[in-house]
This record gives sequence, C-alpha cells and structure tokens, in this order.
Amino acid sequence: MRAVGIVGTGTMGAGIAISFARSGWDVLLYDLSKEIVAHSLELIVKEFHRESEKGRIKAEDAQAAIARIHPRTELSDFSEAHLVVEAVTEDLAIKKELFAKLDRICSSEVPLTSCTSSLSIGAIANGCAGRDRIAGLHFFNPAHKMKLVEVVKTDFLAGEAMQELSQIVRQIGKTPILTRDTPGFVVNRCARHFYLEPLRFLSERLGSVEEIDFAFESAGFPMGPFRLLDLVGVDVNLLVSKSIYEQFFHEPRFRPVIMQQKMVESGLLGRKTGKGFYSYDGKSPRAALRIERRESVISESLSEMAHKIAAKLETGGQLNVPQQVILARTISMLINEAHLMMEEGIADRDSIDLAMKLGTNFPKGPLEFSDSIGKYMIAEFLQAMRRTYGDAYRPSLLLSQ
Ligand SMILES: NC(=O)c1ccc[n+]([C@@H]2O[C@H](COP(=O)([O-])OP(=O)(O)OC[C@H]3O[C@@H](n4cnc5c(N)ncnc54)[C@H](O)[C@@H]3O)[C@@H](O)[C@H]2O)c1
Repeated sequence: MRAVGIVGTGTMGAGIAISFARSGWDVLLYDLSKEIVAHSLELIVKEFHRESEKGRIKAEDAQAAIARIHPRTELSDFSEAHLVVEAVTEDLAIKKELFAKLDRICSSEVPLTSCTSSLSIGAIANGCAGRDRIAGLHFFNPAHKMKLVEVVKTDFLAGEAMQELSQIVRQIGKTPILTRDTPGFVVNRCARHFYLEPLRFLSERLGSVEEIDFAFESAGFPMGPFRLLDLVGVDVNLLVSKSIYEQFFHEPRFRPVIMQQKMVESGLLGRKTGKGFYSYDGKSPRAALRIERRESVISESLSEMAHKIAAKLETGGQLNVPQQVILARTISMLINEAHLMMEEGIADRDSIDLAMKLGTNFPKGPLEFSDSIGKYMIAEFLQAMRRTYGDAYRPSLLLSQ
C-alpha cells in the first residue's frame, strides 16, 4: 500500500486527502496541532458521507477510504510516506522551513511537492539538499472535485520524475498538465487577462458591469468576469494579481487596476461581504457600482477590428460596440499569453488549452480561440492596441510570425 503524507489540512489539504484516500492510498495527515487535524478529519468524514448519500461513492468504499486516513502528530512520521503533498498557508518562509525538514525526514527517492498557487517552487526548494525531487502539484479548489492538476517542473527535475508524478495524478482520477515553474503557472497566469482587461475597461468607463458580463456570457463563458470576481473574492483575486505582477518585475500587461484596490479598501469584496460589483441583499444580484459610461473614445479602426473578432465568436445576442471591443481585447490577451507561454517553453499547446478549459471552464482553450479567429487578425488588433495604449499589448513573436 502506498502512503501520501499531507502537510496542512485546511481547504486544499482536506480535498487532496479525499482524492488520495478514495483511490486506495493511505493518507497521513499533519498540521500545526492535533485539534486542527481532528477537525479536518471530521470535515473529510462528513464529505465522504455526503458523497455516498448522493450515490457518488458506495457506502462501504467511503468507509474503507476513511479508514485509510491516519492523523499524525509528528512530521517525522512522514518517513513512511512514498509521496508528500504540502498544502500549508501561502507563506514562503513557512514552506521553505517545512521542505528543509521534509528533505531530511523522507528518503531521497520520495517526491516532495507543493500545492502553492503563487510561490516559486524553486524558492520553496531553496534550502533542500535534494532539489531534484521537488515539484509542484497545483490542485484546484475544491480539490476532490476539480479534475485539473498542474504538475510543475523546476530546472532541477528530471523528465522521468515528471512522468511519475503525472502517473500518480492520473491514478487518483485527475488530469495532469505539465508546466514549468512560472508565476501563476498556466491557469492563473493566463486567466489574469480575463479579469484585468474588463477591470481596465470598466475603470476607463467604457462599459457597465452588466454590459461587460453579458458580453462574455453571450460568447459562451459560464460567468462574466465581475460575477466571477464577486464569487472568488475581489480581495483574493487582487492578491494573486499583485503577486504575479511583482514576480514579473512589473510587466505592464499584468499591472493590477487601481479600481480593484479601492474596492478592497472599501470592503466591497464580493459575495462574502454582500457587496462587490453586484449587491446580494435582494432576491437577485443587482449592480452595486454607479458607473456612468462615457461617450465612446474607441477609434473607428479598433472598433472595426473588434467587430470582426467578435463576429467570429458566434455570440448569441446583439452586442454593442463597447461589448465587442471588450471581448476582442480580453480574448486577444488570453491568446497572446498562451503564445507567450509556448514561446517561453512553459507548456505546450494542448496542455495550455486543456488546463484553461478544466481550470476555468472557458468554452474553448485560448489556442482554439486563436484558430477560430485567426492569429493574424489577433496580432493586427494587438499591434493597433499597442500603438494606442502601450507595451502591455505587445504581441508574442509566435503570434506575429
Ligand atoms: N484555497 C484555494 O482556492 C487554493 C487553490 C489552489 C492552491 N491553493 C494553495 O494551497 C495551499 C493551502 O491553501 P488553503 O486554502 O488550503 O489554506 P488554509 O488556510 O485553508 O489551510 C492551511 C493549513 O496549513 C496549516 N499550517 C500552517 N502552517 C503550518 C505548518 N508550519 N505546519 C503544518 N501545517 C501548517 C494551517 O493550520 C491550515 O490548517 C496554499 O499554498 C494555497 O496557495 C489554494
């Protein structure tokens, strides 16, 4: 029987524990205190019961899975583990210290992995003797339901180790995609533009919250960017944007938007505070911000190009000019980021598309969008945007070629 050691039994650790236990692994659970572990185990047991009531797992299988989960009070007990997944608080100093300890505790062939969303795997490994067994396993929330796992490679890791980790991810019923250690990995890096462009557009007063959300929903996105921001938390999203912007040394295309910072300072955090881009105090959400749209200052040539791009998106419903422009801007930036990642060798084409569809539920991957619109049209649009708005819109060389 193989055993996985999970350090940190919060939101992610608990979901990861469920995934492994359900797939026949023994699970060792460790956190700061035995009370935290016991509380987490209670939640895990409840979730197994819920899943079995819904008929997603047989009652006896749920019972067997629960019996495979073992609370631990000492990190040194992880010497029994064949794999470690770390899911503690997002803090580099804590993670580094833990990995240095695990490096001493676990034998040298045991992969040590982190579920970090925004820290560099290389930085977490700094302090370990054996860097060639340290990787990222970036699960998505809720970890026992979301299929995608980004397997993150540093420059120290051998290809076979990545294959082995991918195999484990498949064995627990999930889909691995391979990515190199880049800020935000594939999904959080590429998806930045789904938030940043609409936020810029809104703060330039070029469209209203509902108009912009409607544009995306009519193009097949399950949720417009502002509805989604309210759901994940305007503050949580800002932290990720800030972290990626810092790690890219203030690359203009990742620059966060002041309006979002102001909303966070004002407590407009989304659903959890009852107000964000929408108000949630009535029966159905209604716009919370009074944004008065300005007369359009979008040039005719940009509008024409945006119209052509939007026409390729087969939107259900008539879109006005600003709606076409925001769709064209955002989708062009998603496509551009995907090409930049391929250019940098971060991930391949299929992995990027698969990751974006599984990680965000977008109707198409960015490269599929690129194929259906035509990459030259996107490159031309971005060049025009760059001339007007600056280097944030510089098209990737792969896109322009
Ligand atoms: N929540 C998400 O949506 C999400 C998604 C993907 C990845 N992640 C990443 O997963 C990791 C965990 O996030 P979370 O949302 O589960 O956090 P969380 O706050 O729910 O849980 C973190 C747990 O780590 C424990 N912990 C802190 N320091 C520890 C230490 N030194 N030793 C052992 N345990 C310690 C805490 O007691 C807590 O139980 C983070 O790196 C985060 O970036 C989170």
